Amino acid sequence: MDQNLTRKDFLKYTSAASAAMLLNALHIHAEEQHLSTLKIAIIGCGSVSNRYIPHLQSSSSVEIVALCDIKYERALEQKKQYHLSAETYNNIEAMLKGVAFDMMVTLTDMQVHGELNKKALQAGKHVWSEKPMANTYAEGKALLALAQSKKLKLWGAPAVVNSPQFAFMNKMIQEGKLGRIASAHGQYGHTGPTWSAFFYEKGGGSMPDLGVYNIATLTALLGPAKSIMAMTSIVNPSREIDNRGVVKVEAEDNAHLLLDHGKGIISHIMCGFNYFDPHGHEAKGQQLHSIQIFGDKANMRLIGYDWETNGVYLDDSWETQAKLYEAETGGYQWQEGATKVAESIVGNTSPKINVEHALHVLEIIESARKSSAEGKKIYLTSSFKWPLF
Ligand SMILES: NC(=O)c1ccc[n+]([C@@H]2O[C@H](COP(=O)([O-])OP(=O)(O)OC[C@H]3O[C@@H](n4cnc5c(N)ncnc54)[C@H](O)[C@@H]3O)[C@@H](O)[C@H]2O)c1
Repeated sequence: MDQNLTRKDFLKYTSAASAAMLLNALHIHAEEQHLSTLKIAIIGCGSVSNRYIPHLQSSSSVEIVALCDIKYERALEQKKQYHLSAETYNNIEAMLKGVAFDMMVTLTDMQVHGELNKKALQAGKHVWSEKPMANTYAEGKALLALAQSKKLKLWGAPAVVNSPQFAFMNKMIQEGKLGRIASAHGQYGHTGPTWSAFFYEKGGGSMPDLGVYNIATLTALLGPAKSIMAMTSIVNPSREIDNRGVVKVEAEDNAHLLLDHGKGIISHIMCGFNYFDPHGHEAKGQQLHSIQIFGDKANMRLIGYDWETNGVYLDDSWETQAKLYEAETGGYQWQEGATKVAESIVGNTSPKINVEHALHVLEIIESARKSSAEGKKIYLTSSFKWPLF
């Protein structure tokens, strides 16, 4: 007997007159079973796949059925390391023709995200993409239009809006606890990745790799930005990359952004690959107030990083010290985005992450470069439903 039919249901369905209803119920259940796991293909089996694969494996809604990397040995290594019964491929075309899957998770060099995501969408697959989801704002918009025309889902990292610390800050702002908000600051930097050159090549840079987290957090908290002014620079003209040697740095490794969120609210974000920070890759123990938001009744300071935070101080009293809230992760992990959206497809729910927001972040990054190059303010055209929740 079907485990999900109760004894009462069974008795109800045993009369001949109800046979058709029983068949119908079993049929619906079979459909639910089909939807109870989403088949995933991972493209890009480098550093970050070591964070994604275990998280995806922790979900009963997900099955990793394919691994692909142009460095084919990496696909084989990850299959072995994580005991996956997945097919392996050395190019996307072969993977799209191979084992059936529902969603592609894009974890490759940033420069190829747009073209790979397009191929997957054209082949009828949902897509979760590491940042950036496309290489230009125009390419991102075209991807979203393609996804919508095919009734497919497309999402872009990061997943910062999923943290309990984000939820706390969002609630404080929405409840007006900060009073009239004036200013916010976000910062994220370290001394730069050493394992791959793409971070420093054209289409890479500290904004899509690091600043993207703060841009996502501050626009989600304060609302879509209306305009931007920015200065970017290259501080370190060359880099030593593991197993590769010295490469020329072509993308900004230092960036300062000023965003106008309307109603007088201005935020500032700085990010770079030349910021000494011993916690830059692992946030544990980090006490830096990397996100700060100031209103005329209170201020909030997030400690650690918005992608992995150690709590939020709320300072709203002239008499007592600032209090620390949400010091626990609540189960949130920065690498959870693909798992959460997969679960949302299976459960037919709406995740907190939304693609229009990711697209807005992409337009900000592109516009920051334009603002810096041309020395002027850039008005933004994209927006997203705000508040997110
Ligand atoms: N490493 C991290 O800690 C981290 C954290 C968060 C987000 N990210 C993001 O994840 C992405 C990947 O970063 P990474 O650090 O894992 O880089 P990586 O260099 O370690 O891995 C990228 C992999 O993609 C493969 N690849 C490149 N082009 C491909 C193609 N056309 N088809 C198939 N495979 C291809 C490369 O061979 C490589 O194995 C980037 O967007 C990065 O910003 C990385």
